[in-house]
Amino acid sequence: MSRRPLRTFAYGHPWFYHLVTGISALPVGGPQRLRQLCAQRLAPRLPPHAPVLDLCCGDGAASAPLLARGFPVTGLDCSRQALERAARTHPGLVTVEGLAEQPPLAPGQFAGVQISLALHEFHRPARLALLAAALRLLQPGGWFAALDLHPTHGLLGWPQQWFIHLFETATAVDFLTSNLAADLIATGYGSVAVETLAMGALQLVTARNPFPPSAP
Ligand SMILES: C[S@@+](CC[C@H](N)C(=O)[O-])C[C@H]1O[C@@H](n2cnc3c(N)ncnc32)[C@H](O)[C@@H]1O
Repeated sequence: MSRRPLRTFAYGHPWFYHLVTGISALPVGGPQRLRQLCAQRLAPRLPPHAPVLDLCCGDGAASAPLLARGFPVTGLDCSRQALERAARTHPGLVTVEGLAEQPPLAPGQFAGVQISLALHEFHRPARLALLAAALRLLQPGGWFAALDLHPTHGLLGWPQQWFIHLFETATAVDFLTSNLAADLIATGYGSVAVETLAMGALQLVTARNPFPPSAP
């Protein structure tokens, strides 16, 4: 049996999952605003209609703001159930079933890759494999955006600890002790920038696949 029964229940009952994420999203203005954050950082950096990949897209809530801006979006997730919901709700979304750390996709085909609220679900080796895979999938000069938890000791410190205790796994605890920006730099990304939101409880990180050095 899961050591996080509420988490198992939430994944089996979308209404409960949405209730919990809705409450957690209040500090940034609600779940819709939360799901727009990656798109808001990616969209101005990308050429119009450039192809974008939404890793761990779930039911496509964070894909929707990219689709609404006219980008062709591919959503990848390991859950067929979630992908079926995503395809029903967002008919323009191309869905791919697979592992984000070993995506069944050809390299260099996306101008943007985003991952919203999912990196904390990976053990460190898989997380590093995912960051490397996303870099391979990006075109030279392409942009990566990630939204996820950030450790806070401020006003939201205790609520964050309770949320993780009730809903999250050891991977989230591990994620909160890691340094995403440093991992991106070590993986080979450039232009890494970190914003903290929700009184420090969330981080929104952007990074770029550097252009190869031009021949002398
Ligand atoms: C918390 S949900 C986030 C969904 C969406 N990105 C959002 O912002 O609403 C995490 C998603 O990651 C997916 N996931 C977890 N591990 C995965 C893996 N190894 N490869 C692909 N998807 C994975 C789950 O199926 C789930 O849909």
